[in-house]
Formats: sequence, structure tokens, C-alpha cells
Amino acid sequence: MMKKIDVYLTQSLINDDLFLKDKNVVVVDVLRATTTITIALSNGAREIIPAESSSTAARISKGLGKSLLCGERNGNIIEGFNLGNSPFEYKSEVINDKSLIFSTTNGTVSITKSRLAKSCVLASFVNLSLAVEHIKSLDGDVIILCSGKLNNFCIEDAICTGLIINDLLSDESAKGKYEIDDSAYACLRLGKILATKLGKPSSAKILDMLKESEHGKYLISLGFSEDLKLCSEIDSYLHLPVFHNGTIKLPEKIESETSQKSQLKKIKISK
Ligand code: MLT
Repeated sequence: MMKKIDVYLTQSLINDDLFLKDKNVVVVDVLRATTTITIALSNGAREIIPAESSSTAARISKGLGKSLLCGERNGNIIEGFNLGNSPFEYKSEVINDKSLIFSTTNGTVSITKSRLAKSCVLASFVNLSLAVEHIKSLDGDVIILCSGKLNNFCIEDAICTGLIINDLLSDESAKGKYEIDDSAYACLRLGKILATKLGKPSSAKILDMLKESEHGKYLISLGFSEDLKLCSEIDSYLHLPVFHNGTIKLPEKIESETSQKSQLKKIKISK
């Protein structure tokens, strides 16, 4: 059966929460939310709860135990918060087994808009191949939601989307399997030009593109140039965060919690 891949180039194109209901969604925010979240969970954070605003984040954290308030506005840590949005801040010793309440300018907005989705995963360059494998494993159509920048297009999310589509279409067995819309086609062409070398995705070319991007330049001006390097590295973190029931976790964690719950149920029944 033909699978449709539709791309939205900025989260502000989604202005009705019901639009993503029951859809398969892949959220992209390369600089830096989906990259930072992937790294935080890989480094042992228990869960990440996305919040639309800093006040909502503060309210959620009051009801939780071991939690940290995290996020940025204009690229910088929010006043009174524990951590900003640089992936380097999310070291194991700081975040291990903690709930992170996360609020960013664009990324967490796209994520919270996907709350009614049938499935929602978070993609970036650092987990690109897993995002592709995930899309291949789905039965239905897919929406790739680029977070963009301040209600507008941003090149890095489009390029990441382009590489995902390039990988999907390059598989011989994918012939005639996918139908892509014009935004997806534009991302694919851009991705090939700006992020592949001899037909293969190239972290070095991605880094060059990030350095030329509007948000990349802005982050460099704030002193975050090392963040760009970390965000450019293809498949450096083999984890694909899943947003489900208002919380972002790694699928491994969700599985182990589900099996623990069913064990407990069995114990209760046998008593
Ligand atoms: C966002 O969600 O807008 C970004 O992650 C901004 C940033 O680079 O911190």
C-alpha cells in the first residue's frame, strides 16, 4: 500500500490541535530541542515533560519529585530554571533518573501540538537512521513536522527531513511505496545538495550548513558553537524518543515499565 509522507515546514502551520489526532508524527528541531532531548534521555533522564510555557513548566514541576526545570528563550536559559537547552548541560551526573520539565521556543511547541497523535517520535541528525527505521515500520501515512524558527521556515529542520526522505526512498524495496508532497520534495532536493557527499549523508557538510544557518549563526553569537558540532553528528545517539501520554521517554524505558506493571498485576492476582 502507498504511504504518504507530508511535511510541514514550521509548527505554526498546525493551528488546530485536532489536526494531528490519530496521525503518525515525526517532530524535528535540530537546533536544538530534539537533539538535546535525545541526548538527555540517552544520558539517563527518566522522562521529559514538554511544557508550552515557562509558567506551565513551573506548575508541573511542583507536583513532581526529583525534577529539573529546563529550557530556553532566545537561546538562553530561562530565568530561575535549572538547565538551558545546550546538549552539553545534560550530563548523566546532573540528570540521571530525573524528570525534566522542558520548555523551548519552537521545539516543545511542535511536540505539545502532537499530543493527540497516534504515534510521535523526535528526530534529529543524531538519531537519523532510527527515525527512518521507525517510519518504515509504520503501517499508515506519516507527517514530518519541522519546528522551524519563530513561525517560519528554518534550513536545518528541512535538511534533516530531506535526509530522512532520501534514506527512505533510496531503499530498493521502497520503490513505489511512498508518495511525497511538494514540501517533502523540496526538503529532499535541499538535503541532497547541502548535506550529502558522493551520495551519502555527510556530518561535515551538515556542520557547514548549520554554521551558515540563521539560528546556527545566532547560537554561535551566544557562544554555543560546540552545540552545532554535536547536533551535526549523524547517528551518534542510537535512541529515538517517543512522545506518549504527555511524556517523552525512550521506547526501552516504556517497555520495561509496562512489563514491570504486568508483573505487579500478576503478583497481585496470585495473592
Ligand atoms: C527551540 O525549541 O526553539 C530551539 O531548540 C531553540 C534553541 O536553540 O535553544
